Amino acid sequence: MRRCVFFLAIALHAETGREAWLRYSRENPEAIPAVLATLGDSPVIVNARDEILRGIRGMAGKTLRLESAMPRENAIVLGTLPAFPNLSANLPDDAYWLKTVHSGNIDYTVVTATNDRGVLYGAFALLRKIALGQPVTNLDEQQTPYAPIRWVNQWDRLDGTIERGYGGRSIFWDEGRARGDLTRVRDYGRLLASLGINGCAINNVNADKRILSPDFFPQIASIAAALRPWGVKTVISVDFGSPKTIGGLNTFDPLDPLVAAWWKTKIDELYAAIPDLGGVVMKADSEGQVGPSAYKRTHADAANVVARALQPHGGMIFYRGFVYDHHMDWNNPKNDRARAAYDNFVDLDGKFDHNVVIQIKNGPIDFQVREPASPLFAALQKTNQAIELQITQEYMGQARHMVFLVPQWKETLDFDMGPAPVKRLVRGFIGVANVGLDDSWLGNHLSQANLYGFGRLAWNPDLTSRQIIDEWTQQTFSTGRKAVDAIAQMQLTSWRTYENYTGPLGLQTLTDIVGNHYGVAIEASERNGWGQWHRADEKGVGMDRTTATGTGYIGQYSPSVARMFESVATCPDDLLLFLHHVPYTYKLHSGKTVIQYIYDSHYEGAQAVEDYVRDWKSLQSQVDEQRFAEVSHQLEYQAGQAQVWRDAVNTWFWHTSGIADAKGRVGNYPGRIEAESMALDGYTIKLVTPWEGASGGKAIECANERCSASFRYEGDPGWHTIRVQYFDQSAGVSHFKLFVGSQMVDEWSADDRVPERRTKVDSSSSTRCTITGVALRKGDEIRIEGIPDGAEHAAIDYVEIR
Ligand code: GCU
Repeated sequence: MRRCVFFLAIALHAETGREAWLRYSRENPEAIPAVLATLGDSPVIVNARDEILRGIRGMAGKTLRLESAMPRENAIVLGTLPAFPNLSANLPDDAYWLKTVHSGNIDYTVVTATNDRGVLYGAFALLRKIALGQPVTNLDEQQTPYAPIRWVNQWDRLDGTIERGYGGRSIFWDEGRARGDLTRVRDYGRLLASLGINGCAINNVNADKRILSPDFFPQIASIAAALRPWGVKTVISVDFGSPKTIGGLNTFDPLDPLVAAWWKTKIDELYAAIPDLGGVVMKADSEGQVGPSAYKRTHADAANVVARALQPHGGMIFYRGFVYDHHMDWNNPKNDRARAAYDNFVDLDGKFDHNVVIQIKNGPIDFQVREPASPLFAALQKTNQAIELQITQEYMGQARHMVFLVPQWKETLDFDMGPAPVKRLVRGFIGVANVGLDDSWLGNHLSQANLYGFGRLAWNPDLTSRQIIDEWTQQTFSTGRKAVDAIAQMQLTSWRTYENYTGPLGLQTLTDIVGNHYGVAIEASERNGWGQWHRADEKGVGMDRTTATGTGYIGQYSPSVARMFESVATCPDDLLLFLHHVPYTYKLHSGKTVIQYIYDSHYEGAQAVEDYVRDWKSLQSQVDEQRFAEVSHQLEYQAGQAQVWRDAVNTWFWHTSGIADAKGRVGNYPGRIEAESMALDGYTIKLVTPWEGASGGKAIECANERCSASFRYEGDPGWHTIRVQYFDQSAGVSHFKLFVGSQMVDEWSADDRVPERRTKVDSSSSTRCTITGVALRKGDEIRIEGIPDGAEHAAIDYVEIR
């Protein structure tokens, strides 16, 4: 049971979110012909036909008549260019042409392309136009995808779990095998095709060696069969050590002819089972994965030996640039993980075969809330490269926080590296998607915008963030102006908001680096080899990456960029602490000190999420009941988490710097009653680690069957909101009851799915229950009863009364 924070739902019908942006719910689109003719019968063309049928049925309530030849009446006609002798165009693969052809008094709406996939993309584009209320009568529109490679990577393990996946279990795998029912894979293929995504890696980059054993080939083939009709090529991640681990060789040295022969035979077998396999992804010499360094070989040696096996089949290898040493000595101020990709690859430029693509994360560290563009993009000039963006929000709130990433991605894509903006240097877009079996695919309805936005940017990186979010909202939620504007306002500010309360000024996400990458844990970045250091101490903060006194990282950029970054006077404030170490009193361009900026931005960020809760509530009549309630719940939870982050980061920096908040807010929380200061019956006080994860560093826990904590209300009489900040772990479902005097005013269970660690009482499991409209009088006794369950001990941090 969960009673706190509910919203009376009287809205439209319920929707699960599984249709994502392909709901086809617009009513009364403009006049459309009665016939749909399909010139061609490949599975991809048939899917294009069925999609138009489905879309028009949804949006106009009409079932088109299907024909397989040019009809003598107005019609939508699908087919590749050779089917239309009177039409000629020079379209690259995957491009489409929407063309209204007038023939006498007949109008044909032609959807055509060079290849079947282009026709499918054209069909989705036509439907999108109708969904967005755009005219479709006098069409003459050719669109070519910006990048030929538009792929997603799934980090699914064969056991059905997903590394950094927040939307449930794998749609591909279960218990070591491909799922028997691949319905969700087909549905995913449809979503991907609607965006023009043409490849999908179906297993984790930390590859399970079994994927290359022969009994997996039919399983990969069954997944490929589900994706193929949507024009999506299947790709697999492979382990570089495979020749030894499953091949029976005593080496995986890429220059050993036996190893080369092994890869050749293996890849030939793979292509015999899946002739249109897109290729492979490889993570080598990174985070425990073996690589060419074992034999003192280069990454070019490693990539090329596999590339040569793939080459006769037209396959490609995506070799990851994410190579670094995670056992680096943190005492050496010259060490710097950010340097690693460039240092590892720059000398190899031009040494990779033509079917090798270096897959480079947007920034030099690892999908942090803000990083500069990776210097490797400009350094590789004779090597194919693709940008890797993370749709799954590993360091971005793990789909429990709304963070729309398109503005972040655009900032990188548009960043001028000196020779050119990043988007002009890459020929591929790779998105780490990690969708799962949940109806929402990603764990949160609002996070779907990131998958949508990734696909749209890969198709056309010049689209604006506003265009993308508006398209998405209109198809996903509502075409109503109020909803479109409100959701745009929320989503477009959400990255800055998240940055404000997690890690501003280039601090990176101040999360538990060695743990779940979710809750706040400021020192987790330091004194370990992972290299996500921010070097905050009593005197100052930031990584000195200058060439003059620091790690020299800035020298990896072209001169114009390096010059801008090297001097604090020209370094953008947003990246200041990523690139420089400064005292807390250092003044930003705005004139504000670094420490005061940290305090202020955290208050601004937490307030912004409170405002999102309010803004979303105003859309109750615009959105279906189920998704309205689910998003409400998610945003309310996020607002609680944002406050936890705000207080944790601010108190940590206050204690560390010794400089108080000029506005007197940090450490001073009106209306807050710490649980450890209440009258406790059965509850005992617990010290929380890290201390900043709980208010006052302490919480209370119940080791008995039931416990209670009470206090007297001392404020003004009136209607009040009571917030109980408690801890929700996965090791049980505790129950809570809130009493005012002898009257129970609410009860709830700690049964949410939050990214915590089983029994840990910390910022990750910290969550809140908000009870509005409670009449309080001075002297009222407020009592919370906690009933633990299993290893979850009904822990409480504080109560706040407003
Ligand atoms: C991050 C992430 C890992 C992942 C790795 C990668 O470090 O936490 O789970 O394996 O990136 O991109 O390879």
